[in-house]
Amino acid sequence: MCGIVGGVGKGNYHDFLLNGLSSLDYRGYDSAGVTIVNEGGIKTYKVVGTVEDLIKKAPEELNGFVGIGHTRWATHGTPTLNNAHPIVSMHKEFVIVHNGVIENFLSLRTKLLEEGYAFKGETDTEIIANYLEYSYHHSDGVLTAIKKLILRLRGSYALAIIHAKEPDKLYFAKKNSPLIIGEGQGMNYLASDAVPLLSYTDKFIDIDDLQYGFLTSSDIKIFYKNDEVPKHYITKNVELLKKELNGYESYMLKEIEETPAIISRLCTNYFDGTEFKFSKSLIRSLKSADTIIFLSCGTSYHASLEGVRYMRYLGKASEAYVASEWAYEPVIFGKKPLFILISQSGETADLIKCQKVINDYGFINISVTNTPGSSIDRESTHSLLLNAGLEVSVASTKAFSAQVALLAILVGAIENRFNVIDHLRTLVDALEKITAQKENIDLIAQKLLNYNLLFFIGRGNDLIAAKEACLKMKEITYIHSEAFPGGEMKHGPIALIDHKTALIAFNCESMTNAAIRNNAKEVETRKGSIFIVSSEAVYRGGDVFSLPYVKPYIKVIPAVYFSQYLAYFVAKHKGVNIDKPRNLAKSVTVE
Ligand code: AGP
Repeated sequence: MCGIVGGVGKGNYHDFLLNGLSSLDYRGYDSAGVTIVNEGGIKTYKVVGTVEDLIKKAPEELNGFVGIGHTRWATHGTPTLNNAHPIVSMHKEFVIVHNGVIENFLSLRTKLLEEGYAFKGETDTEIIANYLEYSYHHSDGVLTAIKKLILRLRGSYALAIIHAKEPDKLYFAKKNSPLIIGEGQGMNYLASDAVPLLSYTDKFIDIDDLQYGFLTSSDIKIFYKNDEVPKHYITKNVELLKKELNGYESYMLKEIEETPAIISRLCTNYFDGTEFKFSKSLIRSLKSADTIIFLSCGTSYHASLEGVRYMRYLGKASEAYVASEWAYEPVIFGKKPLFILISQSGETADLIKCQKVINDYGFINISVTNTPGSSIDRESTHSLLLNAGLEVSVASTKAFSAQVALLAILVGAIENRFNVIDHLRTLVDALEKITAQKENIDLIAQKLLNYNLLFFIGRGNDLIAAKEACLKMKEITYIHSEAFPGGEMKHGPIALIDHKTALIAFNCESMTNAAIRNNAKEVETRKGSIFIVSSEAVYRGGDVFSLPYVKPYIKVIPAVYFSQYLAYFVAKHKGVNIDKPRNLAKSVTVE
């Protein structure tokens, strides 16, 4: 779960490498480093910390023939300088950066120890560097050594490789981790995603699994097994990849407040005023399936829970599974199952693993991602895009609302009900009303700072809101938070309640209004504090917030929108890094 960048061709690499790494630090920010090769030899600068720390340490000019950079989310080995990338092989012949995890690193390590290799750090990457060097000594060149490496490595890797004797080349290899090449003028580039390359080119090539090759300043060679493969150029929507704060103090706040515009855009993207704009074969597949299985992780899993409700409403059997569970014990039921894979990044490793199983079986799968050209998007039968723009903050916000809104539009298309678009336009107004009251949410957040345990409850749609609200709170504020169905409180969790516990109860459903209020009362009786978030229909004096009216089937969106602000303000008052919470990375590209 790291970000890599690289370039080849004579020039100053300072901005390309360091700005590139800044744009990739959503992939990890435990340590960072760059290597540059010039007349003076190979120079590497590394820090334990973020790319900002690296920028302070690196010289203002990084002139050279070839350069690579890396921002790390530690998997094998703690964040230390020895474990930070770029990593140099024992005889200093290769320098590499790696995104991924090597599963058979122990057996390779043993082999290399037998061959007299020694290791400075604890990373699987150092094993790759040394194995490559070892293979090179038993091959007729670097490409053959990389081919041998690919045959031996199990796991995932996107690799950028410098060979000390060939500073006019930048080698690469890829499996199960993203890698994109950018064709520039007098320079060629590679990176984990297109964003670092946008200022340098608009010609991109996605590298497929098990492909390898090299770049020079004027050429790009890609191979699969023994054959050179033709280059397929693609373009990227630069507008949707922009990473700018636009005056906001954090990406999370900016991204929350982009939500209304994104929902409006989804309406116009998927409905042209007279008909829905989904492919006919996608709608046919959905209509004919008897079972819809959702797979996803984290926030996207919570959007899937809403998707299950939609599919059951359509009369389909439907379940949502956390991808990391399903990947090992695939549950497939029904005569004609169809899979919906939801992922903001489209690169979540656990979900990629599920998709491989699904594709091996030959089942239809629809991807719902925010990242065109991502692994999951590319491998799906039908692709649906959120077009929500780059989500930078580790805490996913706008993507959740867009995922649910898109699923709602999809149901509208299946049933040919155009009023879903009107309902979503009302939702946009409702979200803007919540934004207008964000100072009130801030006041609630300030009260929550007094507690060291937060419980979130709800029933039905409100339970989905409670789960997502809880994830957001724990992820960026580090306050211990748990979410339960309202009725489950008295079956165990209530034992934990004391005067340092606060209960945030989502209560927007008339049917469960009385039951949730009873659950809250039970907590209050045991000296816990209660914060009831209700809707206009069931509001009572004493409730901390009233969510504006929207159609019941989309009311999870305003409830979650409120909770995103709530977590944001708590984190802000705690003074923690909102966009980059500790121990996390935006894109979870390892199992
Ligand atoms: C959300 O706030 C989290 N950072 C995380 O749970 C995220 O939703 C999860 O990793 C799934 O990511 P994806 O949507 O990119 O697959």
